[in-house]
Amino acid sequence: MSKVIKGGTVVTADYSYESDVLIEGGKITAIGKDLQGDQTVDASGCYIMPGGIDPHTHMEMPFMGTYSADDYHSGTSAAVSGGTTMLVDFCLPVPDQSLMQALQSWDQKASKAVTDYSYHMAITWWSEQVFDEMQQVVKRGINTFKHFMAYKGALMVDDDEMYASFRRCADLGAMPLVHAENGDVVAHLQQKLMEEGNNGPEAHAYSRPPEVEGEAANRAIMIADMANVPLYIVHVSCEEAHEAIRRARQNGKRVFGEPLIQHLVLDESEYAHPDWDHAARRVMSPPFRSKLHQDGLWNGLAAGSLQCVATDHCAFTTDQKRMGIGDFTKIPNGTGGLEDRLPVLWTRGVNTGRLTPNEFVAVTSTNIAKILNLYPKKGAILVGADADIVVWDPKASKVITAKNQVSAIDYNVFEGIEVTGLPRFTMSRGEVVATEGKVDAAEGRGKFVGREPYPATNQALSKWKELTAPRKVVRDAANIPAGV
Ligand code: URP
Ligand code: ZN
Ligand code: ZN
Ligand code: ZN
Repeated sequence: MSKVIKGGTVVTADYSYESDVLIEGGKITAIGKDLQGDQTVDASGCYIMPGGIDPHTHMEMPFMGTYSADDYHSGTSAAVSGGTTMLVDFCLPVPDQSLMQALQSWDQKASKAVTDYSYHMAITWWSEQVFDEMQQVVKRGINTFKHFMAYKGALMVDDDEMYASFRRCADLGAMPLVHAENGDVVAHLQQKLMEEGNNGPEAHAYSRPPEVEGEAANRAIMIADMANVPLYIVHVSCEEAHEAIRRARQNGKRVFGEPLIQHLVLDESEYAHPDWDHAARRVMSPPFRSKLHQDGLWNGLAAGSLQCVATDHCAFTTDQKRMGIGDFTKIPNGTGGLEDRLPVLWTRGVNTGRLTPNEFVAVTSTNIAKILNLYPKKGAILVGADADIVVWDPKASKVITAKNQVSAIDYNVFEGIEVTGLPRFTMSRGEVVATEGKVDAAEGRGKFVGREPYPATNQALSKWKELTAPRKVVRDAANIPAGV
């Protein structure tokens, strides 16, 4: 049964044009005028864009003594409700767990997905076994490995482990990702704040100043350069980290930066809220920053020094957040945003003139597909691409409220924000899975999407490597002093 999307304007990362789009067998088979199909999808007054891809989520993940509250069913349903047709989730082995075992448990969780997904593999500990298993993981279609430079005593890896893993990534054609915060300094600051009786959610932000993020971003960039591998820095929240990425890129290093919709829109004043629950619900790492940092992130998206907008969707209920009453270090870190990323970015980005519609498509879908090696299967309106499409109504509006959300938690960090620009239809492989935000998609219809290793050319370019390549200097015996 074919479908034709009619009456809209196709908006890609490159340009916009009026056209119909024909879909057969879950793929785009023609783009042009006056196409005919068995069914018509009405896109009048709408934009036809590649569905959103969220490159950073945590579904039902064991973390800080609990599990993130959205599972693959509620999480992927929230995604399609807001126009996101694919997510890349973190498979997280607990320390000492085999990577392949962790993958098995993730496959089981993901069997409930209503739309397509892929994984990054987290390197939470290091051993010869992990070194060996990384190859099997790449063969399974996972070409990205995440390293936590924070969460000391839990998930954090040290420089020794990070360098070894980055080199392994280089050999396998994989790309490392980092959560860039100096976990040692954070642990010191947390202890000091607690000793001083500063135990509320606001202390979470004091314990993670921009400097801890900037230092770690710089360090990871240098280590990646020495390992001759590209690098992707998740949840970039501040100018210190952004500046490191900008400088690295100017110097020919292949480094990518991902701000979150939360950091683009919400600021540090949230932690000063008199209501403990309000502040704790916004505890995430890195924390929300000042408006100055926010401006820098927006500028980076427009200028291309930052490439992707994610959510880092790691949602916890109010009850879970209350595990940290009396000790802010025990508040589970994470916020939600899967169903709100596109509408909020459109409202605060496109409607204000900070981003063009084409830039919006780039940072929510196409750049992500290219960087994660999913393009043009995903992230494209092209003949042969999967028909993962959002029919976007730029005039539709609503006020965000937890009362109407799909996510399983009991609040929304964007509560009360009015958005203009919403999905009319979300299509996953040609099937309409949400209509005006209402999800109609069978549990389990989502498929794992494997990602090939990167071609050899996708390597960091390093002057350092050339300058410091080991050379043995040949000397005439006459120039070598006699040994003592
Ligand atoms: O606070 C956050 N970001 N929680 C999720 C885990 C992570 O660090 O990405
Ligand atoms: Zn369910
Ligand atoms: Zn993180
Ligand atoms: Zn995360």
